Amino acid sequence: MSALKPKSYGDGDASFQAAGGEAGIRQLVDNFFDRMGSDKRFITIYELHPEDKETSRDKLARFLCGWLGGPKLHEKYGAIGIPRVHAHLPIGEAERDQWLTCMSESVAEQPFEQSFKTYLMEQLYVPAEAVRRRCAREIQA
Ligand code: HEM
Repeated sequence: MSALKPKSYGDGDASFQAAGGEAGIRQLVDNFFDRMGSDKRFITIYELHPEDKETSRDKLARFLCGWLGGPKLHEKYGAIGIPRVHAHLPIGEAERDQWLTCMSESVAEQPFEQSFKTYLMEQLYVPAEAVRRRCAREIQA
């Protein structure tokens, strides 16, 4: 049964539900930013963020709700293309990996099913790598 599970997380709002809905996603994002701000391994990406980290938390949480098949709460801030909103930032492999490591350690602490934790991190690699590629293009230009 568990072998079939990862497939179904892409259906409808299955991922949003597996993450515990908006409350579960906000808990994950709070853990992610708390970790980023308190662990020196993530200082580079923490300092790339604007001063107002409350807005950063809110934006990421709202984005993830829609991205995981739940309500499109990020519309409050307007339309968004993930690579584009990062294009002005110096994000290479090291920064991409800081983001993914920080997120993966936060995901590990959530009360999600193990199969969803694995699925979520596989899915997050895709936009994280798209961000890195977009930023590399920007540096060359
Ligand atoms: C690849 C590593 C990444 C790094 C280092 C990074 C870092 C940042 C930084 C520094 C900002 C603030 C930008 C600014 O206001 O100037 C930001 C914004 C944001 N990031 Fe990332 N990010 C990464 C990947 C991702 C991924 C994979 C997602 C989504 C799955 C994401 C979602 C967002 C969202 C929703 C915002 C807010 C955009 C807005 O509405 O202004 N980021 N990120």
